[in-house]
Amino acid sequence: MDLTNLLYEVEGGVATVTVNRPDKLNALNHQTLQELGQVFDAVRDDDGVRVLLVTGSGEKAFVAGADISELLAVAGNSDGAAALAGFGQSIFRKLDELGKPSIAMVNGFALGGGCELALACTLRTASDTAVLGLPEVSLGIIPGYGGSQRLARIAGPGVAREWILTGDMIPATEAHRVGVVNRIFVQEELKEGTMKMVNSILKKGPLAVKFGIEAVLRGWDMNQAEGEAMETEYFGRAAVTDDMKEGMAAFLEKRKPAFTGK
Ligand code: COA
Repeated sequence: MDLTNLLYEVEGGVATVTVNRPDKLNALNHQTLQELGQVFDAVRDDDGVRVLLVTGSGEKAFVAGADISELLAVAGNSDGAAALAGFGQSIFRKLDELGKPSIAMVNGFALGGGCELALACTLRTASDTAVLGLPEVSLGIIPGYGGSQRLARIAGPGVAREWILTGDMIPATEAHRVGVVNRIFVQEELKEGTMKMVNSILKKGPLAVKFGIEAVLRGWDMNQAEGEAMETEYFGRAAVTDDMKEGMAAFLEKRKPAFTGK
């Protein structure tokens, strides 16, 4: 992959993508979004990758938003603005289609498009010094990369309305309290703490993890009865995997399972 604005590495089944424009607080311009799309496709297609970590370069910012200079270029152009939003949405949607979990490791400002990137990940960890928020209203716009929809689904419409209408900077501790951030750590322990969560996922059956992600994601738009029917379907699919036999056998034999993802 030819990457200018991202760092990408894979180690021990964990891919890490780092948005690397620290002089612009890792703001997402078109090229960076395009590169993220390439990385997400590569992660989806690489069976050696079990978990994706998404983070930002430096200690100051995760991602401080969509690149405001590019947003300005579509002022007065409704179709152009819609296309810009649609492009960002199509990139972040790839995270829903990875078939494996993504974790946003929020190491600093996660604002606007940066917050939306974190919301598009399966899970979020943050340092206690990080700041999240959707300050688009301060610029006379609203979130355009799926944030208004994902935040309402993750934390409920009350939280989504508060964040979107005030545009306030939300301390990570508050984001954690309302369930937007799953786990919070002191800054120096962010990586180590996040890796504990990663390692606990890595020990589990990859297909079960995949089905779990999909069951929750697809259920967002279903009523209880439809959701249960869909859950039953995944339960049935899990039952015919080698991983199910292995998981149950390992439990009964009092040993650790050796899952193969089959
Ligand atoms: N788009 C483009 N450039 C951005 C940016 C963004 N979203 N966020 C920060 N930058 C740039 C700044 O323009 C500045 O560039 P410069 O040095 O060439 O002038 C550089 O990053 C550093 O940012 P600066 O504002 O000087 O840092 P700060 O510590 O004073 O403030 C923030 C940090 C995060 C509070 C502030 O940068 C900010 O409010 N950014 C915009 C957040 C936002 O509205 N995001 C939503 C966009 S949809």
